[in-house]
Amino acid sequence: MKVDIVTIFPEIARGPLEASIMSRAQASGALELNYHDLRDFSENKHRQVDDEPYGGGPGMVLKPEPFFRAVAKLRTERTRVLLMTPQGIPYHQRHAERLAQDEHLIILCGHYEGVDHRVVEALVDEEISIGDYVLTNGTVAAAVVVDSIVRLLPGVLGDDQSSVEESFAGDGKLIEGPQYTRPLEYEGRKVPDILLSGHHAKIADWRHDQAVERTKVNRPDLYEK
Ligand code: ADE
Repeated sequence: MKVDIVTIFPEIARGPLEASIMSRAQASGALELNYHDLRDFSENKHRQVDDEPYGGGPGMVLKPEPFFRAVAKLRTERTRVLLMTPQGIPYHQRHAERLAQDEHLIILCGHYEGVDHRVVEALVDEEISIGDYVLTNGTVAAAVVVDSIVRLLPGVLGDDQSSVEESFAGDGKLIEGPQYTRPLEYEGRKVPDILLSGHHAKIADWRHDQAVERTKVNRPDLYEK
């Protein structure tokens, strides 16, 4: 998969996406990731990419021209264009699963008070929000979305099962139950005996019950569904 991130802060995206599993995904060829500085697409000699909002109001709006020029340069017939914005559709694991099938994504990152709406109308296939809170810019959100997609690409996670049996995968109804590792006892708290029993069917039942309990407490919204 190829991903092009267009942002005024490429270094913000690089931080989380050039370490650990994301770095290995690129080394293995599963992912080709490119960062583009929106200012490189400015027509202005000061590399200006924002301006005051028509109709007044606080903050600055990102101008349309640099986005149009960036997308014109990067797009192919098989490209999906995403815009990271708090006004977008709430992002979910099922979106990651669908986007992981794509060949090429261009991810546009918003900033300031927003992006000129002609960008949304003419260029953007999907507006995405990673949650009901406002970040200083969409680049952090783009890194979240890229990470969630890339870990689903074939061969990126060592154990293929680890992205199948996790919270929100598949029908997405339950979150995962608790996990334990060594030591067996820590600060007076013991690992539940059932996990040491070697009885796989009983362990699976116990895990399911725990997942149900945890979903009830932490995600009553999911449990009700
Ligand atoms: N930009 C600022 N806040 C955001 C959010 N919650 N999701 C996506 N992009 C954003």
